[in-house]
Amino acid sequence: MTRERLSPADTRVLLLESIHPDATAFLSKAGYQVQSLDRALEEEELVSRLGEVDVVGIRSRTHLTERVLASAPHLLAIGAFCIGTNQIDLAAASTHGVAVFNAPFSNTRSVVELVISEIVALQRGLTDKSAKMHQGIWDKSAAGSHEVRGRRLGIVGYGNIGSQLSVLAEALGMSVYFYDTADKLALGNAKRCASMEELLELVDIVTLHVDGRPSNRGLFGENEFARMRKGSIFLNLSRGFVVDHAALRSHIESGHLAGAAIDVFPSEPKRKGEPFVSELRGLRNVVLTPHIGGSTEEAQQDIGNFVAGKLHDYLSLGSTSMSVNLPNLALPPRAGEFRVTVVHRNVPGVLAALNSLFASHDMNIEGQYLGTRGDLGYVITDTPNDFSPEVLASLASMPSTVRLRVL
Ligand code: NAI
Repeated sequence: MTRERLSPADTRVLLLESIHPDATAFLSKAGYQVQSLDRALEEEELVSRLGEVDVVGIRSRTHLTERVLASAPHLLAIGAFCIGTNQIDLAAASTHGVAVFNAPFSNTRSVVELVISEIVALQRGLTDKSAKMHQGIWDKSAAGSHEVRGRRLGIVGYGNIGSQLSVLAEALGMSVYFYDTADKLALGNAKRCASMEELLELVDIVTLHVDGRPSNRGLFGENEFARMRKGSIFLNLSRGFVVDHAALRSHIESGHLAGAAIDVFPSEPKRKGEPFVSELRGLRNVVLTPHIGGSTEEAQQDIGNFVAGKLHDYLSLGSTSMSVNLPNLALPPRAGEFRVTVVHRNVPGVLAALNSLFASHDMNIEGQYLGTRGDLGYVITDTPNDFSPEVLASLASMPSTVRLRVL
């Protein structure tokens, strides 16, 4: 459970799936032993390799299951160099006291730029016009083309992406309306709608930026498309399962909607070359993209630096700021010379037991931080006195202790 004072030089970091070289450079410069592979590992390989690893970095194709995590006794932290963490058994990571970090907003700007470009493209019929030109057809006309200036944009889901889109859309002269189930600060001149229905009846463009909570399955279907204004356009770059694509197809075919841009699908090919099946194929003025909203080199670079920074803060200070599963604590540098961090089960009496142990060994406490989250607690203690093997053994043997580290 404990390895005393793991120095950076002894810390083994394995990065999989071609994580951006900035991450390798950052972690190597911080002194860690970093090995980088360009592929994902299957479960068997993970089980045999993670036994000797302190930190693993993955993207979306590596699955860290309960079995894999149970076979990685030294594993301290997982860096998900991506946005989602569905590929990680988070409950198992918490049970083993393994901290998980991701990059929740490194690709926000990339998504927003794609949305803006698609709104302009749809309002000008660019896909149709370009396709015709490639067939040798010169079809110059202003009919059905619009400036985006002055158009009413409706954003459903005003989180990281929705709110940043709001700012850029206003800069282009659009009038922004939004609907969010949570209370959100309206940026600039954006106006909040009391319901999604109100928004749908008001705007010329509807774009979805909701999160993937299960209740959003089927959020947008026949009724919602029917409520949209005739000639309006629809975009979804959030999650595939929130939209009924058969209903979207029928509203495009009937001419009720003038166009759509879709980046996410209920079922997406798992790998390059696998056929893409969708009822939206072959429709005019419908832009289809293979889930690339956040896929830019800038976003990958930002993810690399962001997650590497979080891992380093955790390894060197114990900071869990923005961890996906551990209690979030942004820690200052050590107050005393020595720091011990204890991930523990969130049961009564842990702090009292820890402090009476320190007192009984004449250890003064110069700084102490506690956070809890669900079944887990996390306590960090700074002291001027070194931790004797006896104190560490007592800490490790407390029934509440999940993971102990001396920094
Ligand atoms: P976020 O969590 O910051 O924002 C989501 C917002 O939606 C929250 O404010 C939430 O309160 C709101 N919301 C949830 N359900 C709602 C509902 N039924 N009606 C109205 N509001 C609702 O998430 P973020 O970072 O802005 O991402 C938004 C979506 O974009 C996510 O689903 C994410 O997975 C997806 N995404 C897609 C990418 C792509 O490549 N196409 C890249 C990055 C994110």
